[in-house]
Amino acid sequence: MTRPQIEILPSRADFTLQAVRHWLAACRQAVAERGAFHCALAGGGTPRALYHCLATPYAADRVPWERVWLWQSDERGVPPGDPASNWTMIRRTLVERVPVPASQCRPMVPDAAAAAALDAAARRYEAQLRATLPADPAGRPVFDLVLLGVGTDGHTASLFPGTPALETRTRLVVPVEARVEPPRRISFTPPLIEAAREVVFLVAGRDKAAVVARLLGDRDSELPAARLRPSGRVRWLLDAEAARALPGAA
Ligand code: 6PG
Repeated sequence: MTRPQIEILPSRADFTLQAVRHWLAACRQAVAERGAFHCALAGGGTPRALYHCLATPYAADRVPWERVWLWQSDERGVPPGDPASNWTMIRRTLVERVPVPASQCRPMVPDAAAAAALDAAARRYEAQLRATLPADPAGRPVFDLVLLGVGTDGHTASLFPGTPALETRTRLVVPVEARVEPPRRISFTPPLIEAAREVVFLVAGRDKAAVVARLLGDRDSELPAARLRPSGRVRWLLDAEAARALPGAA
């Protein structure tokens, strides 16, 4: 596992722009080397500004959208259009505003039937990944970029402390019963995240300072986000607020 690259940006705007730069660079490299860019998008609130910026002309005009595939690293077990749906946020901030082919936009929970039967939806998603992405020698689909957020309890994707999904090594996408609202979720499991060429954790805001200090300062290995062992590049993008409790922080 390569050492994580930690970048601390002075403001939320700088944080977002740096995330845009990394996303564009990963896209450019993947398309140049493999003719396609497979990216798994994080949910929650932190990445909204990134997706919004990717849809502005400055960024969107630099993206070969016909080569881009947009997936999700986790989703809530609610129908599309529900305010709690991560895909609703991704669709409104990005998908509806750029010329990415609809066939290359892959929501984890595409309809109400999938929301009602999450294990079947997870199995279908895993089958889509295996049929579409290149595989590594272990047979795992390889993303060019996986974006992840981190919760104040150290969860990432929907890998929450104490949940079986965190220990799952035989499946790549599984349903999750979380102890947060909404509880029913679908998530990538560690093996799928660990196979990616690049993983970027996007963490911003003062409320994340304590968990960032535990993850990157104390190396608290019990937290889900610390349990991952990605085989590719790992970046932590932090704004100054989220990094404020790290040793040596200003
Ligand atoms: C979700 C996300 C989740 C999120 C973290 C951080 O479905 O909620 O995938 O893992 O990334 O909870 O959320 P914020 O960015 O809103 O702090």
